[in-house]
Amino acid sequence: MILGLETSCDETAAAVVTADGSTLASIISSQAELHARFGGVVPELASRRHLELVVPVVQEALREAGSALDGVERIAVTRGPGLIGALLVGLSAAKGLAWARGIPLAPVDHLHGHVASLYLGDDPLEPPFTCLLASGGHTLLLDVRERGGFVVLGSTLDDAAGEAFDKGARLLGLGYPGGKAIDDLARDGDPDAFSFPVARVAGLDFSFSGLKTALLYAVRGLAEGELERRRADLAASYQRALVAALVRQLQAAREVAGHGAVAVVGGVAANSELRAALPDACFAPLDLCTDNAAMIASAGRYVEALEAPDYFELDAYASAS
Ligand code: KG4
Ligand code: ZN
Repeated sequence: MILGLETSCDETAAAVVTADGSTLASIISSQAELHARFGGVVPELASRRHLELVVPVVQEALREAGSALDGVERIAVTRGPGLIGALLVGLSAAKGLAWARGIPLAPVDHLHGHVASLYLGDDPLEPPFTCLLASGGHTLLLDVRERGGFVVLGSTLDDAAGEAFDKGARLLGLGYPGGKAIDDLARDGDPDAFSFPVARVAGLDFSFSGLKTALLYAVRGLAEGELERRRADLAASYQRALVAALVRQLQAAREVAGHGAVAVVGGVAANSELRAALPDACFAPLDLCTDNAAMIASAGRYVEALEAPDYFELDAYASAS
């Protein structure tokens, strides 16, 4: 059994996963409400909340798995990228647990974790495949040839796709996080009502900042009081443009990588229009799209675990290397 810990942003999460990829428990305590009134995650608040929650969340995961800490053979923990203070809470907790039990510690890259969400359950995806990783912090195209890692084919030059959803939602006066809110509202809107262009970037990269600006101008161009009436149309048109860019670049990456199979992971993989636009793609299950610890435990199966005292020196990292 592997105990996974995830504290890179605003979810405090712990999970118990078996070596063959069954999830025995997955507990996620979201801080979204805590940060909502600030319109985004406040790093210092996140660290403090992780500190309060990390032990109870681990206890709850063990209880749900019907296990004591004695049954755990390895700890897997997110080392980065993410908020440094938030990461340090999880990493320190993991070191303490591993040291107390004399078991090894596997440091996991959060992005590898998102990809490893595809390796859980009864019907796991087998590499090779081309993968779109779209979350609040990252938008990457990956060539995945083995479960232990990936090669980056392209990434965003400015905002991440989830960030573009969140910023768009803010312009439309929807809450944070905004991806789900836009997704829900777009169902009642006309995606052709507004024409939002997405920058065509050479190669396999993305750019979403121009789209966000286009939405800003569209909102500003509305007559007084008209936003309320056009909000769903704006959401639908904005989402249409975002999804089109993601699909276009994923198809291009698929041709470059030369794999038949494609997959989509990360928070934005929960988007209903994206899922509908790629009927052949393998999507992470909905509960594994946004941040969770089961995906971290899953990735922890494929990275080298460290023994004490080697893991004492492990440090967190804020950005992807
Ligand atoms: O993977 P994740 O939980 O956190 C990061 O690692 O960043 O992704 C969170 C992002 C947020 O930007 C959120 O707005 C977006 O995923 N998201 C969605 C949907 N659900 C979550 N975006 C579009 N449609 C959704 N249904
Ligand atoms: Zn994430």
